[in-house]
Amino acid sequence: MEHTDSLPKKVHIETWGCQMNAADSEKMLAMLAERNYSLTDQVEDADLVLLNTCHIREKARHKVLSRLGVLKELKSQKPGMKIAVSGCVAQAEGQKLLKAAPQIDILFGPGKIDELPNLLDEQKTTGKAALAVGFKREHVEPKPVVAPPTLSGAREVSRFVNIQQGCNNYCTFCVVPYTRGREVSRTPGEILAEVKAMVATGAREITLLGQNVNSYGNDLGSTDRGDMFVDLLAQVAKIDGLERLRFTTSNPHDLSPSLAELFKHEPKLGRYMHLPVQSGSNRILDVMKRKVTREEYLERVKWLRDAVPDMALSTDLIVGFPGETEEDFQETLKLVEECRFSFVFSFKYSPRKNTPAARFRDQVTEDIMDERLKRLNTLQDQITIAQNEAEIGKKRPILFLYESKKHPGHYYGRSEHFRLVRAQSEQSIVGLTRDVVITQANKIALLGELS
Ligand code: SAH
Ligand code: F3S
Repeated sequence: MEHTDSLPKKVHIETWGCQMNAADSEKMLAMLAERNYSLTDQVEDADLVLLNTCHIREKARHKVLSRLGVLKELKSQKPGMKIAVSGCVAQAEGQKLLKAAPQIDILFGPGKIDELPNLLDEQKTTGKAALAVGFKREHVEPKPVVAPPTLSGAREVSRFVNIQQGCNNYCTFCVVPYTRGREVSRTPGEILAEVKAMVATGAREITLLGQNVNSYGNDLGSTDRGDMFVDLLAQVAKIDGLERLRFTTSNPHDLSPSLAELFKHEPKLGRYMHLPVQSGSNRILDVMKRKVTREEYLERVKWLRDAVPDMALSTDLIVGFPGETEEDFQETLKLVEECRFSFVFSFKYSPRKNTPAARFRDQVTEDIMDERLKRLNTLQDQITIAQNEAEIGKKRPILFLYESKKHPGHYYGRSEHFRLVRAQSEQSIVGLTRDVVITQANKIALLGELS
């Protein structure tokens, strides 16, 4: 019987938050493509609007509700339109969100992405909202792996592959363990197949994603307790046609000396890594339950820089964690100076419901947070600019990722140190690694000439 779902339809996807959400959106698009949906960037044209949401910092619920308000209007003019909400807000709010926004047809959390086709059917049959939240612990039999379509609709040189869901760490400020569940790793076989499929469709740079990639495989029950993450990286790096292999996010607690060793021997890993520290104060790190002291963090930085002396590092920092004093904050500034990060993602602490830190006393005022964030950013900007300016005159291999839409002939790529570089070329250099001599630099990017 011809399924009515085989009629061509259009989906509009809005993705908020981390790269992991972007990879999840691609996976959903792949499932919808099997149902004859194609992507549209015009929300008015969509038969299905999918909001893939993020809950990491404040106002998440508010943002989603306000977007849903706009969509409600649209839906009233286009009655066949369906609205789906996925991601961490869907998981955290569940039934409550359905009550607040009855215009939602489908609601599912990050642990239930595979259920999307069933949810579409269920909603259609019952005419009522279909909901799936929570986490499945058991491993599901993988389907044949193909490269999911890209959200831009174009061939992308740089793509993301989720290797692990969830996090077991329960840092006291963080909502992720509640919205994405406990760590569940995909098998190396599945990951290798997906990377190969992406490389076969034009990807040259792959970023392996997990909340805690260094603990990859701890849940897979291997008898050989080697470093499964390092083994996985080494295997993925062997794939022909892959030029760069990156990964994020690394938790310093689980980072091993063998990872530093691999950086030394595997050029595809480049000379850059993101290693979130969150604070420079041991007192705050302890209350955050980061399980790593400032000294232990610096030790890991040393492993990496002993292996690769010009290793570029970036980090995440939270200012204004409950109880953070001026002295604690000074420790953070000192750490930033000591580590010479290439850039920093700095956030004002945002209390998340149900996390321990939200109940801590001594919440820091917004004014103090603003002021500390400003000082931190000023310091880091100086470091970033100095490092970028020091690149002037150097010749660097750049993997070019895309052509500027506004300025055809201008191509953007990244150096091994993950610096954004722009160069001009008559022919397309997208997907190619070319030597570039750096001629100018600012905070955001370097400018160079093909050599
Ligand atoms: N798995 C990563 C972090 C994922 S969340 C790790 O191991 O560090 C991404 C970043 O958001 C965190 O590193 C943190 O800096 C920030 N963040 C998370 N929860 C936050 C909160 N409640 N307030 C402010 N920033 C937060
Ligand atoms: Fe969050 Fe800490 Fe895990 S920041 S994602 S609980 S490592």
